[in-house]
Amino acid sequence: MSGLSGEPTVLVVPTVVTDRLILRCWRPADIDPYAAMNADEETMRYLNGPFDRAGTERLITHLAGMWVLLGYGMWAVEDKATGEFLGRAGLYYADGWPGVEVAVSIRRDRWRQGLGTEACRASITWGFTTLPVDEIITFPNRDNAGMNGVARTLGMVFQGEASAIGPWRDSNLYSTTREKWAAAIGS
Ligand SMILES: CC(C)(COP(=O)(O)OP(=O)(O)OC[C@H]1O[C@@H](n2cnc3c(N)ncnc32)[C@H](O)[C@@H]1OP(=O)(O)O)[C@@H](O)C(=O)NCCC(=O)NCCS
Repeated sequence: MSGLSGEPTVLVVPTVVTDRLILRCWRPADIDPYAAMNADEETMRYLNGPFDRAGTERLITHLAGMWVLLGYGMWAVEDKATGEFLGRAGLYYADGWPGVEVAVSIRRDRWRQGLGTEACRASITWGFTTLPVDEIITFPNRDNAGMNGVARTLGMVFQGEASAIGPWRDSNLYSTTREKWAAAIGS
């Protein structure tokens, strides 16, 4: 009855562990390393950035708040071996989005090691296991070689060009369905 009585709701954000990563709830200590990532023009080329530290703090509040509002959201990504902050990953949705999106951002010195794919794979599996969604999409800018590569490596199917808001206008839409994902994981 906490919603009716106005009492605060205690929310437990799930933790997902993969071979090399821990996807976990955000912490205040993530602000500095995430702000460093968000200050990097190359990392933020397709993410409407760069952002300063205050912008990063607001973004983390937004990403953490999605769990309260929607029951899913984006995790902080931690290196399982060292505990270092490596970025963010998870499921995202906002008004105007063409569907529930798998999204990821990895610290630039760790690109091209399969970590983006690993984080997205775990996010999609968590989504289909936990949420009543039958399709998960992603729609990277058509020039974003990294995220187009992740989508292809995950076996997501190219659906055509997508348009949404902000810098995501010239995007490629990929999707996977609950059925396809179950078949791929089983194979
Ligand atoms: C998108 C991003 C997360 C990719 O992460 P990553 O860990 O480097 O990706 P992976 O190593 O899992 O690579 C997946 C595939 O894409 C390919 N790829 C990755 N980056 C690439 C690049 N810059 N150019 C060409 N291919 C690339 C890889 O070779 C791999 O293909 P393979 O499986 O055939 O070998 C990373 O580039 C990033 O953080 N970019 C900035 C944030 C961003 O734009 N996020 C996407 C918006 S949601």
